[in-house]
Amino acid sequence: MSLGTVFKSQKEILGEMKSVYEKTFGGSYRAFFAPGRVNMIGEHTDYNGGHVFPCALSFGTYALAAKRDDRKVRLASLNIRGGEVFEGSLDDLVYHEDGGWTNYPMGVLWAFEETGRKLPSGVDILYFGNIPAGSGLSSSASLEVLTGLVLRELFGFEDVSQEDLATLGQMAENQFVGMNCGIMDQYASAMGQKDHAIYLDTNTLKKEYAPFVLKDAKIVITNSGVKHQLASSEYNTRRAECEKAVEKISSVKPVSTLGELTTKEFEKVKDVLKDETLLRRARHAVTENARTLEAYDALLKGDVETFGKLMNESHTSLEKDYEVSCPEVDFLVHEAWKLPGVIGSRITGGGFGGCTVSIVKNEHIENFMEVLQKKYKEKFGLDAEFYIADPGDGAHEIRID
Ligand code: GLA
Repeated sequence: MSLGTVFKSQKEILGEMKSVYEKTFGGSYRAFFAPGRVNMIGEHTDYNGGHVFPCALSFGTYALAAKRDDRKVRLASLNIRGGEVFEGSLDDLVYHEDGGWTNYPMGVLWAFEETGRKLPSGVDILYFGNIPAGSGLSSSASLEVLTGLVLRELFGFEDVSQEDLATLGQMAENQFVGMNCGIMDQYASAMGQKDHAIYLDTNTLKKEYAPFVLKDAKIVITNSGVKHQLASSEYNTRRAECEKAVEKISSVKPVSTLGELTTKEFEKVKDVLKDETLLRRARHAVTENARTLEAYDALLKGDVETFGKLMNESHTSLEKDYEVSCPEVDFLVHEAWKLPGVIGSRITGGGFGGCTVSIVKNEHIENFMEVLQKKYKEKFGLDAEFYIADPGDGAHEIRID
């Protein structure tokens, strides 16, 4: 039995894309890739000025692209209706209600123009992604970062750094698509490094790369198959609740984000919140940030057991205080905790469905997948999917001959 879902190789994917590109757009093109991400710990801390600890994955979104000599923007995706072509224009960079996925790349074109990087001509882009959509592994962030990379490389915007690809992607998502996400997903997709996780202070964007290949265990992602439908509206509500908490706390202690507070400091000021929901939301943001600092230290010391324990505590906080989980994901996590060889397990990403991330000892991985699959099917009638995460590099061009 193979360990988890086996993805098509890059060669196979590019082969399929080339034949569709040639039929659809014709002409020569260049190839690009931007990965998805899995967050190990530090959830819903990135818009609270806290720390996160994601790794880029080896799967993500691919693009074949070329510039045009007019102002048309033609976009197609092998994932959507067999590569049906959407035709837009540089003169119409506005959000379209019926634009679906194309709003993400169009938002990035808009963000380039909005930051003074006028696009000299339109583009043809064919995409293909192997991140299951709505799984909380950042398919949309990878699409944004990838589009930024395509524009930078095709038009020679040398001032755009990898970090800028992340901030331009976030800008598109916040101001064009209307999801008030933090910086984590785009940052991981742009800045990932093979075999490493990124310890990022989202307040200052100061980062450290930490080796994340474990001797006798692996990162196993479990996809509940439940799509995070509520994610966007509930996400924006959580963010607003945290901002409200900051406003109230700053009447007794000058802070501009919850990430500035230690748990001790929070205990001293929390009574000012009065409202029970606000208290729980703020407590999650503060304690999750503290757990992330502790987890990073533990990992550097090689103490994976403590890292796993903190992952478990993170889940409980997301389930009870932040309320961003759902029965299916809770089940997968609670059952994982009971299984042999599981060092830690929690929900990962924005929540309301999507995936869990677990650290599982090598010799127990098959059993982990078999038992969880069976129990999940019995309980919910759903199939769980498993991916072994292999921390990969950030967005880059792929040389093709
Ligand atoms: C989504 C957002 C991120 C982050 C996570 C939760 O993935 O895009 O910015 O807030 O949720 O940690």
